[in-house]
Amino acid sequence: MCGGTVEAMTELVYNPFGFAHHDDPYVTYKRLRDEAPAYWNPELEFWALSRFEDVMEGFRDTALLSSRGSVALESRRPIGQNAGFHQMIEYDPPEHTVLRKLVSRVFTTRTVAKMEAEIRKIFTVYLDEVIESGRAEVVNDLTSPFPMDVISAVLGVPAADRPALRANSDKVMIREDGVCSIPPEAAEGMFGLVSYFMEDLPKRKAGEGTGLINDLVGFEFEGRVLTDEELLGFCILFIIAGHETTTKMVANVMELLSKHPDQKAAVTADPGLVPGTIEEVLRYHNSTQYMHRTLTRDFEIHGQKMRGGDSVLLLIGAANHDEREYGPTAEEFDIFRRPDRHLGFGYGAHFCLGAALARMEGKVAVEEILRRIPDYEVDHESKVRFHSSNVTGWRSLPVTFSPGQREGSGRTAEN
Ligand code: HEM
Repeated sequence: MCGGTVEAMTELVYNPFGFAHHDDPYVTYKRLRDEAPAYWNPELEFWALSRFEDVMEGFRDTALLSSRGSVALESRRPIGQNAGFHQMIEYDPPEHTVLRKLVSRVFTTRTVAKMEAEIRKIFTVYLDEVIESGRAEVVNDLTSPFPMDVISAVLGVPAADRPALRANSDKVMIREDGVCSIPPEAAEGMFGLVSYFMEDLPKRKAGEGTGLINDLVGFEFEGRVLTDEELLGFCILFIIAGHETTTKMVANVMELLSKHPDQKAAVTADPGLVPGTIEEVLRYHNSTQYMHRTLTRDFEIHGQKMRGGDSVLLLIGAANHDEREYGPTAEEFDIFRRPDRHLGFGYGAHFCLGAALARMEGKVAVEEILRRIPDYEVDHESKVRFHSSNVTGWRSLPVTFSPGQREGSGRTAEN
């Protein structure tokens, strides 16, 4: 009772860049939903929508909330200003629809199902490398290299080039405590990615290499081929989106299960519960916490007058804990929950293109972990949080387990 009073008297401040906020964003999210469903941060000048229905509608209404002013708060710019390279995630319909059609067939559930055996083989290589030792640093040893290998295999990026791309992609995400801008290290990471693909694309155009990048180089739509800025945009989007969030998601599953031993025992005993576990992690502690949009015109919601050009954050993490959608147990982790919907992959036109791939990668990784190192224990004392603005996860997650046997045939030239 007393605690509640103190909390009610505390000023409600939501700063997605505050490292302290990352430890438990859900306390702030609840206050936002209840006390300020259309919240204005005067210092950083953005609105935040936190209730499930508002966030979903925000994703749906692309005419009102545009992606053209960037989908990240720290790189926002006036709509129409050139971003250097063109990513479809920063287009609105109808231009977005055309680009999306070009690549959507690569990531359908059916296409991804055909990749399951290959994904398992890739994950086995990494698990084999640590299984005899009885200890691992989950992020570096397991959950980070394997999604990079998978997306690289799709794109046709050679194995030798992947560690540097992974390092640069990780750097891109880095943010400083409380600061809404892109630090030099992150800019350096982006420069590394851009330089790599600017050197790589002419070779693809000359017929070298295989994979999705070569397909994109040859695609024609509406009587034209993709521009260099669009090709570059696709490569960078796929590398970052295909790697960062899945890496964080699998480590989040391991950390959350270790804190809920009964649920860990249940899913270990019945691998059929793995897909439901993944869905619950996407809802309960999603690796993407929010997306940024720019208002195209004046708009009023919950009594607040927003102006055309304003920044709006669609808080996925808050919406996914909304009691108005999930009832009184909304704030609990429950792998047996079967919600009709969640916003972990966004909603509408930009719904995550890689959702089927991410679900498959998550399923394979978690199945293999629970089958081969079922007694893993997280060292909660020494785990280290990854601090970004909208990506949530672990920089380091040490675990110990009973040593096991290798099962695969080791690395090949391509993994
Ligand atoms: C757990 C893993 C993942 C999560 C939580 C996640 C989350 C999201 C979210 C929330 C969006 C919507 C962005 C917006 O509305 O502005 C999105 C879009 C996107 N995601 Fe994912 N993602 C994941 C994995 C992947 C993977 C593996 C790929 C690999 C191809 C991928 C590729 C994309 C692309 C290309 C878009 C942009 C789609 C468009 O603009 O139409 N994502 N993702």
